[in-house]
Formats: sequence, C-alpha cells, structure tokens
Amino acid sequence: MAYLIGIDIGTSGAKTILIDETGLVQARATAEYPLSSPRPLWSEQDPADWWAATCSTVRQVLETSGIDPREVRGVGLSGQMHGAVFLDEANRVIRPAILWNDQRTQAECDWIMETIGRDRVVEMISNPVLTGFTAGKIVWLRNHEPEAYARVRKVLLPKDYIRLKLTGEFATEVSDASGTALFDVPNRRWADGMLEGCGIPREWMPRAWESPEISGTITDEAAGLTGLAPGTPVAGGGGDQAAGAVGSGIVETGIVSSTVGTSGVVFAFSDKPIVDPALRLHTFCHAVPGKWHLMGVMLSAGGSLQWYRDTFCAEEKSVAAALGRDPYELICAEAAQAPVGSEGLLFLPYLTGERTPYPDPSARGVFFGATRRTGKAHFARAVLEGVAYGLADSFGIMEEMGLPIRQVRASGGGARSPLWRAIQADVTGHPHVLTNVDEGPALGVALLAGVGAGVYPSVEAACRQVIRVTDAGSDICPVNHAAYRRYHGVYRKLYAHLREDFAEVAAIVG
Ligand code: XUL
Repeated sequence: MAYLIGIDIGTSGAKTILIDETGLVQARATAEYPLSSPRPLWSEQDPADWWAATCSTVRQVLETSGIDPREVRGVGLSGQMHGAVFLDEANRVIRPAILWNDQRTQAECDWIMETIGRDRVVEMISNPVLTGFTAGKIVWLRNHEPEAYARVRKVLLPKDYIRLKLTGEFATEVSDASGTALFDVPNRRWADGMLEGCGIPREWMPRAWESPEISGTITDEAAGLTGLAPGTPVAGGGGDQAAGAVGSGIVETGIVSSTVGTSGVVFAFSDKPIVDPALRLHTFCHAVPGKWHLMGVMLSAGGSLQWYRDTFCAEEKSVAAALGRDPYELICAEAAQAPVGSEGLLFLPYLTGERTPYPDPSARGVFFGATRRTGKAHFARAVLEGVAYGLADSFGIMEEMGLPIRQVRASGGGARSPLWRAIQADVTGHPHVLTNVDEGPALGVALLAGVGAGVYPSVEAACRQVIRVTDAGSDICPVNHAAYRRYHGVYRKLYAHLREDFAEVAAIVG
C-alpha cells in the first residue's frame, strides 16, 4: 500500500493529512496560527508560524498513523494563494508575509494597470491586477518600505516558502503562480512583459512546475524536523482553490464547486483559458496539467459568519462550550427560526472589501432593512443568505458566459450546515451535492503527489478512484427560489447604490 501526505497552509491554520492510495485518511492534524491586522485593510502572517505548524502536524500524522515514513511515496503542498513572502540573500524572511485578503495595494494596482495598459495586461495574464494578487504587494514594498525592498532576492507564495524549507528548492506551480498577476496563464509560464512593466526582476520568481510534477525532495535537515524520510518527493501541489477542486473531483466540464471557507469560491473547470469579458471571474491554470479554471472569489463568506459569531454570539459560544457543541450549530439553529428572506433584512458580506463581482477594497458589510420585528434569528439568517447571494453572483456570471453547470459540489466549513447548504441551493437554483471526502486542499495535493510519484496514472484517474458523490442535496423549493430571486435583485442594487458611500467612508476612516 502506498501512502501520501497533503499539507495545506490555510489562513487560520495548517492542516496535514496522511492517506493511503484508496484515499482513506489514516491520520490528520491541524495547528492554528495568528493573523495580524496592524492597520485597517492590512492582513499579515509570520511564515515562521507556518513552518512550525508544518513540522508539528507532519510529525503528528506520522506518529498517530504509525506508518513508516519510508512508505510515504510523496508529499503535496497547498495553501492560501496570492500572499507575498519576501526573502533576502540568505533566504531570511524580511518582513511579515502580506496575505491574499490584504487590501492596501489599490494605488499600486491602478499604477500597474495604467502603466502597462488594461488590454495588454489582460492579454498577458488573462486577469486584471487586483489588490489581493501578489504583484501589487511587491510594488507596494518598493513604494513604502524601500529599505526592505532593497534586500529582496526572492518572492515566494505561502506554500512555496514551506517547499523551500522542506526541499531547499525555489519553486512554485502553475495554479498558484496564476494568482500573482505576473503569470502568463494561457501559456503557463512567467509573463516577462508584466515583470518588466512592474520593474520586478525575473530572477526573483521561482521555477513554475505543473502541479503533479516533482519539484524537489525532503532534505536531511527537514527530515530531522518533520520526521519525514530524507529524499521523499515533494510535488508541485496547488493553490488552495485548485487543490480543493481536485479534492472535490472538479476535473471535468460541467462539475462546479462552491466552497465556503474564510473566502467563498465558485470554481468551474475549463479546457481552455476562457476570459470573462467584464473580468469579474479569475481565469487561472488548473492543477490538472494543460487545463484551466474560472472562479469567482468572495473575500468574507465563512469569514462573515465567524465575524458574526465572535461579535454577537458570546452567549451561544458559552452554551456551546457547556454542551460540548459547535457554536455554529447553535447559530444555524437560531437562523432556522427566521423565515426565508429574513423578513427583508439583507446582509452585504463585504467585511474585508470584495473581489467578485465587485473588485472593491472600500466595500463594507451592511445590514439593511431592520424593523422592530427584526430579532437575532433574522440577523443570523441574513448572514447565511447574504453569503449565498454573493455566491449566486458568481454562478450568474458563469451562466451568462454559457459555462455549463451540471452539478454543484459543496465543500468547506459552510457545507457542514444543512440549513446553509439548502439556502445556497434555493438561492442559486442548483442542488448542492456532497462527496465522500471533505478534506479539501490537503486531499487534493496528496492526490497530486500520488500522480507525481506514479501511484495514479493521472489526476482524473486519481479523482475517479477516490471521490464519489454521497449526498444528492435537497431539491430546490420553487417558492423559496422565487422569493430569493426577488431579494437577490435588491441585494445587487444595494451595492450599486452604496458604492460611492463606501468610498467616502473609506476616505474618512483613512
Ligand atoms: C483565491 C483566494 C482565497 C485564498 C485563501 O483566489 O484568494 O481562496 O486562497 O483561501
């Protein structure tokens, strides 16, 4: 029996799993780390925390499974996308990593788009340059921290920093590289024109592999720290969305995933690098060699419910702790007491700005439509519904572009609540099915490592062998769907009405 390890460097913590070749999870371990927001719109982490979490979780899965490390045929790496880790000539981290949900770089993104020209940018990278993406962060460093910038010799994405620590190699892979805004997505290589236009030295960028390819092997030093065997192959892996999509079997046209983690992502497979003419969806390389994907990304999906829990639900938290239950279960039970549409209370989930369909760092969260009848159940339900409307915006764009949607697979923490899943289904008009695996990106990259190590002949074959639909999801309720369509119309108009006010408030707050 072959064994594989998948490591996911998430935003709230690292998750490592050890699977056998049938996909059965033999052991899993997680370790949390902090996120710091030293200023409004900023979001940073210390890469040393990711590495400590990697070492401890890998050790744990090896210990609890009892599997001989020499039987591990490959390791796959996944992680939060777009973050910038700046390294000096001795590979030391120069400053905290600037993350995917950091919104400080609007001026830099505008500068890049203007200097290079919108059409030329889209021709090269198939996407606009957005604040979340890596390019703006590098230019921001040059503009705001020139001393730090002068020391930079390499820029790595979060999981690729872990690769460096594990293998000593400077490498990435095409799915994560696609989110830098410096990558030629159609041709799956660095976009020299973008690097030149931004004034970023080509040699700062790591080598880009296809996701299943072996990018290096575990060094003696990393073996000592993780318990892995020296020489174990490490595959390219994938950005968390492409890797999660492999872990949900999104490897053919018509099968779409909807993943509610901190972010909310609707992800569609594509044979070709198709571009949304209005640039609301991202077009990135898939972790399946020679394939692409389109995705819409909400910045605060599960993040909205987490914020609601932490800000308004001290009581639910303490009751849940006393009962040994998850506070989210109690919040969802409360939400179920409110009627469909929350009696007109609408929530705009733009707590950290937004990306799809509005690339707007100034957008803010809004509760709209409260009355004297509005109670806590309505607020809880409005949060669940507001996130579902945001996801439905991405489905709407895919439908408008003529992308087929034959089946929607729900995953991430948001798929665990039957109520939330039913709301997402009724809002979008698509039943949300579940699969037998809910290990997300960690499973996806374990499978990719299996392909690289020759355990499976292809990514598609690995998915066929391991992933099955286990729950067909609830049928769409036509009455609810009709009500939600009307509310969704108002939800969309609210952003249009408030856009200028968001900008004005952002200017006042500074
Ligand atoms: C994808 C994205 C997020 C992060 C964090 O474009 O920004 O999904 O990868 O999960």
